[in-house]
Amino acid sequence: MSVADGVIVAAGAAPHSANVSGDALALLSEWLPSNSDPARPQIQLATVDADGRPDVRTVLLSEWSTEGFYFHTDSRSRKVADLRANPAVAIEVLWPGFSRQLVIRGFAEQASNEEEADAYARRSPYLKQLAWQNTAELAARPVAERESTWTSFASDNDIARIDAPPTWIGFLVRPDRLTFWESNPTAPSHRVEYALESGDWTEHHLPG
Ligand SMILES: Cc1cc2nc3c(=O)[nH]c(=O)nc-3n(C[C@H](O)[C@H](O)[C@H](O)COP(=O)(O)O)c2cc1C
Repeated sequence: MSVADGVIVAAGAAPHSANVSGDALALLSEWLPSNSDPARPQIQLATVDADGRPDVRTVLLSEWSTEGFYFHTDSRSRKVADLRANPAVAIEVLWPGFSRQLVIRGFAEQASNEEEADAYARRSPYLKQLAWQNTAELAARPVAERESTWTSFASDNDIARIDAPPTWIGFLVRPDRLTFWESNPTAPSHRVEYALESGDWTEHHLPG
């Protein structure tokens, strides 16, 4: 991936951005599954709306790189309206068994067209179809109608090869803080944090 230094689209975005490197990168590589693993991690994505109210929901981590973390969604969704008003986000990733938590703070910008198309191509047939049919109009219909519309769409289209709908959108979250929490049954839980300070990643050790 190319080195990117602060290419942020929306007003009020991050003053600094730098690729993740060093120990933070090593921890991400150890903790997160590889991008080629079809079982994508579920992440909690927090946004803030135009009035400053927070919201949160689960999305899939589509992929990540030294530049940041990618997720994909519908351009008509509330989260996209939030991001257009304020690109600041927080992401939480939780591992089972009281073991690990990763908290990411950063700023979201729209992913490239190429990345969006690649991510769509990697989605399962079900999720490809969902991106086409996850509409407010269909959601308001009775369940039998939603099911028959779904079945008709699947039989009328080659879902495995279909292109993304125009509403498919991806975001890259460029981090400026990465906090790795780890439990330890024989010692206090512990956090190691990497914060982007004046363009450099600085390590801090924090109580759990
Ligand atoms: C496990 C799980 C994974 C999800 N993955 C996505 C996703 O990758 N993209 C997405 O737009 N919504 C995903 N959703 C649905 C979102 O949680 C959310 O309901 C939807 O995106 C609308 O959110 P919004 O109104 O806050 O924009 C997922 C939900 C669950 C429970």
